[in-house]
Amino acid sequence: MFELPKKEDIFNHGIPSTPDDITEIVIKAMGQTGNPRLREILTALVKHLHAFGREVKLNDEEFTQALDAVTRLGHLSVGKHNETVVMSDALGFSTLVMILNQNRDADQMSPALLGPFYTRKDPEYPNGFNIARDTPKESDIPLFVRGRVQDKHGKPLANALVEVWHASPEGLYDNQDETMPANNLRGKFRTDGDGQFHFRTIRPASYPIPTHGLVGDMLRAQGRHPFRAAHLHFTVSADDHATLVTQIFPQDDLFVESDCVFGVTSADLAIDFPMHDDGKAPDDDVTGAYCTLDLTFDLSPGESRLPQSPINA
Ligand code: BEZ
Ligand code: FE
Repeated sequence: MFELPKKEDIFNHGIPSTPDDITEIVIKAMGQTGNPRLREILTALVKHLHAFGREVKLNDEEFTQALDAVTRLGHLSVGKHNETVVMSDALGFSTLVMILNQNRDADQMSPALLGPFYTRKDPEYPNGFNIARDTPKESDIPLFVRGRVQDKHGKPLANALVEVWHASPEGLYDNQDETMPANNLRGKFRTDGDGQFHFRTIRPASYPIPTHGLVGDMLRAQGRHPFRAAHLHFTVSADDHATLVTQIFPQDDLFVESDCVFGVTSADLAIDFPMHDDGKAPDDDVTGAYCTLDLTFDLSPGESRLPQSPINA
């Protein structure tokens, strides 16, 4: 059984006299939302959602399709796949929110999307470790990454945590490909007393995002390709400093200016991955061509907090 609210507790928002009144009435009805931030967000949401419906003059069939699309997003977001995140990314909304929330000076490295494949469960390794755990292929290009973590004044940060993850040259993360060893191409490293870290991996390649669901349908309908520019993902954190989430792209990648999730958020993230063939690779087993990457991450003061994983990996 339910209990009827008392008459004096009921807020009468009224009945629309014209179609235009409906927006105002809905906003009025939500005006009692106790939490002021929630009230602000919901009011703006109703305002813009109604304006959108009016602008495109949404018909019944399109409205049904829109509701189906939202339902599909939920159904497709299971286990190791999060279609909702991928949709937000492909709409450029994730990048917009990230840009709105960055608290970094113009001369600091830009942040970039976390993406849907961050697991947070990758093991911590000693510096120099090779995170490419799969059987090497002839086409793999060894990549030696060196970096330094510093504060915004250039002072090295010791014991900072650097997490890295990236897709294989075939374009798959370990959690998308059952044949890969667990935690292939993922790892955590700590900086030494000079704020330095280094590790080995293989050069990533550009790859298509998952297109089996709604995002794939949208990209096809829009004539957009599904490729991301090749990249390495990083989170960089240190005590009393805001965690930096970013991605680094080879500047000569074919998709740097057309990344399908608008992931190249700033030109400073597209940099040179120089190739070498001098027989002087840092590891003796590398006798042919290899490439290197030198990075400097600078952190602002703030709260050190690792992001949550968007998937159940
Ligand atoms: C990625 O970085 O791996 C990614 C980002 C957005 C959508 C799909 C994949
Ligand atoms: Fe990625």
